Parts: sequence; C-alpha cells; structure tokens
Amino acid sequence: MDLRDRESQYILHTYKRLPVDIDHADGVYIYAKDGKKYLDFFGGIAVNALGYGNQRVKAAINAQVERYMHVSNLFYMDIQVELAELICKISGYPKVFLTNSGTEAIEAAIKLARKWGGSRSKTGLLALTNSFHGRTMGALSLTDRPKYRQGFEPFLPDIDHIAFNDIRDLRSRVGGGTAAVFVEFIQGEGGVNVMSKEFVEELFLLKKKHGFIVVADEIQGGLYRSGRVFSFEHYGVRPDVVAMAKPLGGGLPLGGVLVDEPLQDVLGYGAHGTTFGGNPVACAAGLATLRELSEKKMDQHAAKIGSYLRQGLRQLAEKYPGFISEVRGLGLMVGVECKTECAEIVNELLSRGILANCTSGNVIRLLPPLIIEEEHVDYFVSQLGEIVLEHSKFTTK
Ligand SMILES: Cc1ncc(COP(=O)(O)O)c(C=O)c1O
Repeated sequence: MDLRDRESQYILHTYKRLPVDIDHADGVYIYAKDGKKYLDFFGGIAVNALGYGNQRVKAAINAQVERYMHVSNLFYMDIQVELAELICKISGYPKVFLTNSGTEAIEAAIKLARKWGGSRSKTGLLALTNSFHGRTMGALSLTDRPKYRQGFEPFLPDIDHIAFNDIRDLRSRVGGGTAAVFVEFIQGEGGVNVMSKEFVEELFLLKKKHGFIVVADEIQGGLYRSGRVFSFEHYGVRPDVVAMAKPLGGGLPLGGVLVDEPLQDVLGYGAHGTTFGGNPVACAAGLATLRELSEKKMDQHAAKIGSYLRQGLRQLAEKYPGFISEVRGLGLMVGVECKTECAEIVNELLSRGILANCTSGNVIRLLPPLIIEEEHVDYFVSQLGEIVLEHSKFTTK
C-alpha cells in the first residue's frame, strides 16, 4: 500500500488532503517526494510566520529537548515564564494562560466569561455571523459556519450571533445580560472579512454602556500577520481578552489567552488547567519565534509586502472585472473574492507549484509566511494572472 492508501486505512477521514506527499520544507518552499517545489502562500494555515527551518527556532527546540520535554504544570519552568514575560511585554497585557491550540484558547475565554458574568447575572455570549472560533463544543457554539456545526447540536445555551458589520443588529442583540462578545477583527475562514471602523466603535461604546467583555480572537489574524502585532490595533481599541495560537509556537502546538488586569483573578487556582498547555519545548519554539518576529519588525514587513500584494491583485481585478470582484485584507491576510467558485483556481495554482486556499466557496485566501518578499509576490500574481486569463477566455466564449 502506498502512503495515501495507508492514510485512508488508518486515519479517520476528517481531512481532505492535497495530493502532495511532503518530503521537506525550507524558507517559503515545500518540496514533495516527487521532486516538485511549491511556493507556500498558505503558511500551514497561518502558522509558519517565519517560513520553514528558521535556525533560531530549531536551535531553541533542540536545546530545550536536551533539557526536558515535559514535567507538567505542577512545576516552575523558566522557559514558560520567559515566554509569558515576552508575550506580556509585547502585548501590554499583564497575564497569559497558555494552551495547546486556538480552540483551547477560546474555551478558556468562554470559561472566563461565564465565570465573570455568572456573579453579575450576565450569561449571554455573542459572536458574529460567519465567524470561526474552533471545533470543540464551546468554540463550535460560537462558530457560525453551518458546514462545521451541522449534526453537533445542541450547542452551549445562551449564545447568539450578530450580523457581521451590521450596527443595527449589534445594538439589538447586546444588553445587560451580555457577558461577552467574541470577535475576529478580520475573519479568516469566513472569507477574509475586515470589520468596519464604525462597527468596532459602536461595539466599544456599547461595551461601556452595558459592561460586557470583548474577546478578540486573534488566532489567525494576530501576531504580526495583519501588519500590526494584533489586528485590533488597527482600530485603536483594547479588548479585555485576547486569544492567540497558530504562529505562536513556531510550528509546535501552542496557544494562549491574554487577560487584562480587571479580569486577571477570575480564573484562580484550580479553575482551569491543562496537562500539555505551555509545554516547555513549544514555549522554547515560541520564545524564539516571538523574538525573531519582534526584532525583525515583521509587522512592518507584513504591512509593506501585504500592501504590495494587494496592489498587484487589484491590478488583476481591474483587468478582469468579470472574474475578480474584490481584493481585501490587512497585511499578509488577503482575500481575492471571485465571481464564481474558486476551488478550481486553487487547484490550478497547485498544479503550477503554488499553495493557496479557497474559503467560503469563492474567496481565494492567502496567508503566506511573513518572510515572503516582492519577488514571491510578483511570481504569485503573474501565475494567478495567467490562470485568470485562461478562465476569462473560457467564460467569455
Ligand atoms: C480565528 C480562529 N479561531 C480559532 C481557530 C481554532 O484554532 P485551532 O485550529 O488551533 O484549534 C482558528 C483555526 O483556524 C481560527 O482561524
């Protein structure tokens, strides 16, 4: 049996894999066993901010493996504390809880919101339409993507969804019983939708009025990708809780929840915990990753290259208005909305040696490593241009 047959025989069929058997990866390229090279514009689903094989991250992992790989959260671990110190310094938040994944960061935030709200008769949790917050039952209760929810009812009680960017709907749904509103300031899975300034402004006015918590899901858009350390910085606001994951562990499983000062004692001793969360090897990788990202000012690089990418894509959109309806995003989180389904375009990119993703049916989602340069963007845009040209010929016949 070859690898694909063995995968199919022994692993539950929850993932539709791309037809690529990976051999190794380096920089912004993935190399398949058949010798084919792929330019990565999807970054392991927004994880590989520093691309593949960063020497500093590898050295940090190796050094920690030599010391110890796991002792449990019953012990003080210098590497975990060093990472927490750096996250707090970079973010300006006073405390963090470390997890293994994004969905666990959201679960921790849900528990915090329920516990904080419980003593104030505030039990309502709100999220936005088209949101994605993860697949565990709590996070899935917030997630508003039918394809992920179907068949898993009933969900957590007292959860509702506000229409994205709809101020009137926002006003009608929040109130005195609202404990928390969970938001992605830029939705990834939902189609790379950027929250409007007016909506965010109103959300924070209502927060002041009703006294609820705002939880920022920065799992995909956060940590340097949007052109700022966190995407909420584009709006000049400060959420109470910030969920992070994806790039945090430099490729190892690591997430976290930042908690602002007034809430830092809500989850006290024994109120929450995890065996593996904040694993020391993941923390070593995370520390090296965050140092690289901050020392190299990768937020500024993401902003610059991201705007170069959007500019190139907008030129394509102007050339092919019958095919591309909109180019949007922040930093290196970019969506190209097509007038038709885009799965085929993404497959054609793959056959030309470029990795991208199709989300929400018609949005090409780009989440490249933050280390990409203009030459990679030029290549990507030229290849997409050739594909779109072919399709436009076909569709206008
Ligand atoms: C915005 C957002 N929230 C939560 C999650 C869940 O994170 P994880 O897959 O690490 O559980 C994701 C994952 O794609 C995400 O993009």
